[in-house]
Amino acid sequence: MKIPFNTFERQVARLQPEIDAAIGRVLQRGWFILGPELEKFEAEFAAYIGVPYAVGCNSGTDAIELCFRALGIGPGDEVITSPLTAAFGVFAITAAGATPVFVDIDPLTYNLDPNQIEAAITSRTRAIMPVHLYGQPADMGAILEIAEQYELFVVEDCAQAHGGRYRGQRVGSLSDVAAFSFYPTKNLGAYGDGGMVVTSSPAVAERVRMLRNGGQRSRYVHETVGLNSRLDELQAAILSVKLGHLDTDNARRREIAARYDALLAGGPVETPWVAPDVEPVYHLYVVRTPERDALMAHLAGQGVGTLVHYPTPTHLQGAYQSLGLGPGALPQAEAAAREILSLPLYPELTDDEVAWTAQAVHQFAGVLAR
Ligand SMILES: Cc1ncc(COP(=O)(O)O)c(C=O)c1O
Repeated sequence: MKIPFNTFERQVARLQPEIDAAIGRVLQRGWFILGPELEKFEAEFAAYIGVPYAVGCNSGTDAIELCFRALGIGPGDEVITSPLTAAFGVFAITAAGATPVFVDIDPLTYNLDPNQIEAAITSRTRAIMPVHLYGQPADMGAILEIAEQYELFVVEDCAQAHGGRYRGQRVGSLSDVAAFSFYPTKNLGAYGDGGMVVTSSPAVAERVRMLRNGGQRSRYVHETVGLNSRLDELQAAILSVKLGHLDTDNARRREIAARYDALLAGGPVETPWVAPDVEPVYHLYVVRTPERDALMAHLAGQGVGTLVHYPTPTHLQGAYQSLGLGPGALPQAEAAAREILSLPLYPELTDDEVAWTAQAVHQFAGVLAR
């Protein structure tokens, strides 16, 4: 059996008639930027998340930058975040002019450890950016409490958690302002780049709208240096179709995760731990073993594609050498980065493929024993 880590073929085959109709509609209209498709999708997405405002932009990275710029967070300010994430999300903090301050992860959830946040707060700290990694909502109760005590903003990075819930509430609706990515592999993915800012604040929404469109409120009047970061009409129309499938797709992801949990029990890897007050959406199914590289090679030999999210924590990337954080600075994130492995998980993955993958993981115990 050959099981790709990810594939769009099956998804496109499933959705093609609806997607073709959406694309056809946009082409016929001949309106490609800031038009009715984006307005419609923004309204649908805001309603889905449970907030009054959603503003589309070019990527998750831009969405995060727009969040900080709209809050007035920039040069001289510090933002506390997780080192175990897509580096792009951290680059957005830097792009806004602020400085990322890394706090280690909780090794059970791989999310920002709230118990370590207070020690990282300085007079320059303005915000905390939890990342709902792998689709599991971060410990928002504890994070919001700290933020309130120290008068900090909270910006959720929801790039991996469309539809996830914390204590019954959708991620993105829990903080001052939140960012989503529609990168193609995400739970809600475009067929290109895309992102969204969501908020309950009309002032923040208004500022993001201005900033994403070259700092203009009206045409050719640039009141500040903005971004060129709009979610185009084709992507908005495609995303609108796909939003209609998100809940069933997430339910299937949870079903696959439950199958993996059951099939991998007693095997040579640690399976994901889920906090009691969250409903995860399994953007990724991440197992853990000190023999990660050997397991990855073994699975490749069995036709199973895997990836590591992420092999190098962001504080150890060359891009952040200037922060002066060497190996050992954030031990939990560094240990996780050496031991984690993402197994295939997408709604179209079949039960047979899940069983094959789980069996291949079990065989690895035999390989280790040899
Ligand atoms: C956690 C996280 N944050 C931010 C991003 C950046 O999103 P994008 O690729 O849409 O710019 C991604 C995805 O790559 C991500 O997974």
